[in-house]
Amino acid sequence: TTETKGNPMSGTVPIPHGLPMERDAGPFAPPSEITRLRDARPVSPLVFPDGHQGWFVTGYDAVRQVMADTRFSSRQDIGVLHVPYETPGMPVATEPSPQIPGLFIAMDPPDHTRLRRMLTGAFTVKRMKQLEEHIIDVAERRLDEMARMTPPVDLVEEFALPVPSLVICEMLGVPYADRATFQVNSAKFLVKDQPLEEKMAAYGAMTTYLAELVVRKRAEPGDDILSDLARHDELSVEELTGIAFLLLLAGHETTANMLGLGTFALLEHPEQLAELRANPDLVPDAVEELLRFLSVADIFYRYATDDIEIGGETIAKGSTVVVSLLAANRDPERFDNPDALDIRREARGRLAFGHGIHTCLGQQLARIEMRAGFAGLLRRFPTLELAIPAEEVRLRTDMNIYGVHELPVTWTTAS
Ligand code: HEM
Repeated sequence: TTETKGNPMSGTVPIPHGLPMERDAGPFAPPSEITRLRDARPVSPLVFPDGHQGWFVTGYDAVRQVMADTRFSSRQDIGVLHVPYETPGMPVATEPSPQIPGLFIAMDPPDHTRLRRMLTGAFTVKRMKQLEEHIIDVAERRLDEMARMTPPVDLVEEFALPVPSLVICEMLGVPYADRATFQVNSAKFLVKDQPLEEKMAAYGAMTTYLAELVVRKRAEPGDDILSDLARHDELSVEELTGIAFLLLLAGHETTANMLGLGTFALLEHPEQLAELRANPDLVPDAVEELLRFLSVADIFYRYATDDIEIGGETIAKGSTVVVSLLAANRDPERFDNPDALDIRREARGRLAFGHGIHTCLGQQLARIEMRAGFAGLLRRFPTLELAIPAEEVRLRTDMNIYGVHELPVTWTTAS
């Protein structure tokens, strides 16, 4: 181990140039190079495409430590706006990025604490329980509509996207009728190779729309989360807009992809699917296992504000650190037979919602949406199957949140 310390470029494990992305081990498994790295050196040096050197953390314990340690700053504009080194035209970050008002996912304490605290009340387990029946209703109505269609249909468009979208719009008080504006633009932030100018243009369109909305809410508050926030005089319009942007984006893309990719995964594991259909009480466990197994929100960035020792390696102050939650959630040191989908696993302690101060604010909401979604879908469509060969399903390898672009499905209609 002495030879790997101090000089991150030494050692026998080849150092990857850029993040390995190719899903060469199947649609649900991490890229094989990531698995290999995790097993050989769970905290590995990594060279970014621009030549800048950082670290790639893939082992469960190490990832958990990184996420728990606030000396790893979140001011890296992770995913939401522009992932540094991935976005063409993005300058090399040599210090924490300037903060974007309201985007507390990319802030550190005390700014992060101040903004997150204003929202915790709106997302408590108790509040989410109160919403549960309504969410089940939203899912059932979409399934009614789907049942009236002639298959094949795209499950993403008809079900996986509308359910979380309708729910988050209603909670925030964003008119669902305006979804063309925010769904198209929010998708643009998540395209990995989107040039910076295009991301900025999409961001501009979103923030113009949301700024008008929060100004209206401040003038005439309604019964929704954005109106409640607008009542806080100390929040500026820019901050309100940033928070609205973050919640709308996070509330859409993540759960939608879990529903789409999760359905694909169940259809590809027929024995698990049959067991789940036979025992609908297993749905909550199946949701936890799908979260672990798929980890659609996989790659997160941090910035070391100090020299920090993790997994026997010294990460130097100023380094960019990338973690893979998917690799961590498939770590054989933590989970038995990690690459098997096992809905009876009781997969506690997994990192799909992150860990530490930035742990997912919407996780109870997401769980309720997924339980309602999968339970309803399986009950209403007992003969659901893919309408195209599995190899032809378009995977979101080009996006920062993984999933499927479309999932054409079919079923036997009652005659
Ligand atoms: C943060 C995953 C659904 C809102 C996070 C983080 C992860 C994550 C991994 C940590 C980011 C980090 O440490 O940098 C997921 C997954 C979801 C999901 C897998 C669905 C299955 C949602 C929903 C909302 C939401 C429905 C609705 C509002 C947020 C927010 C943060 C966050 C606001 C930032 C929290 C902070 O910085 O303190 N999410 N999320 N998420 N998530 Fe989720």
